[in-house]
Amino acid sequence: MESLKGRDLLSLADLTVAELHSVLSLGIQLKSGMRKLQRRKVLGLMFSKASTRTRVSFSVAMYQLGGHIIDLNPSVTQVSRGEPLVDTARVLGRYLDAIAIRTFAQKDLETFASYAEIPVINALTDREHPCQVLADLMTVQECFNRMAGLTLTYFGDGANNMAHSLLLGCAMVGMNIRIATPSQYPPNPEIVEQAKAIAAGKTEVIITDDPAEAAKGSHVLYTDVWASMGQESEADDRIPLFMPFQVNESLLAKADDDAIVLHCLPAHRDEEITDGVIEGVRSRVWDQAENRMHAQKALLASLLSDD
Ligand code: CP
Ligand code: NVA
Repeated sequence: MESLKGRDLLSLADLTVAELHSVLSLGIQLKSGMRKLQRRKVLGLMFSKASTRTRVSFSVAMYQLGGHIIDLNPSVTQVSRGEPLVDTARVLGRYLDAIAIRTFAQKDLETFASYAEIPVINALTDREHPCQVLADLMTVQECFNRMAGLTLTYFGDGANNMAHSLLLGCAMVGMNIRIATPSQYPPNPEIVEQAKAIAAGKTEVIITDDPAEAAKGSHVLYTDVWASMGQESEADDRIPLFMPFQVNESLLAKADDDAIVLHCLPAHRDEEITDGVIEGVRSRVWDQAENRMHAQKALLASLLSDD
């Protein structure tokens, strides 16, 4: 196991390829057995946005490792009354062993990490959702017994956190990544360049506005909500633009015969994914959601190791 002791995870690219593989294999091992931290540790959860999976999977993972969590919802701390982030970070860094933060701006996460002398984990920002991609890749590995050489196609909002973290994660494990998105919603060019540099011309990094072409031969069809948290007021206007990118039965028919369907959840049935597909035989979304807990347990065991 590559030790990540004391490190931050602000972007998936903060891990080396070897470290990413190491977390994924530990997640698969931990799924069939427990592991305890040598000393009881405490993880803070500071979430400025709603969460079901991330909050609960981090909490249960921490309890199963023998540690504790403290809910630091900003509304119950002095953050809601304007205490500066840099002061909060320095203080919490002296109490906690690690903190998982869900917020809007990646910059706030980076600022917090630079002032808190503990591991800071990105539990979702507008830019990235690396913990979700740990679980996604673990699910791909379990379903196909390999990752390298497979093609994952993401359909929907190319400018959101999931598209960005999938670009990085797939490139890191040697998977082809295609982002099928309306031309008005391209991924952040900096992240596309980062993914291309990682792929180094050996695997595909494709951004396209042609969903049918993108689906062809794909092993994993992936989608996410069309309006992310914080974009609720745009939701209705986005529907007609994104509808051609819906993951439905006819899109699935263009993919590889053994293709699986993933969605980070929560899902809007009959918007980004049809009820038939999410409930259908190719869907692996419940295994994927379960794997959040195993992958994050592996991450926590590594970040908080006593060795
Ligand atoms: N996929 C995901 O992060 O779910 P939550 O928003 O429920 O945590
Ligand atoms: N893109 C979604 C992911 C939710 C897990 C959002 O940010 O709301």
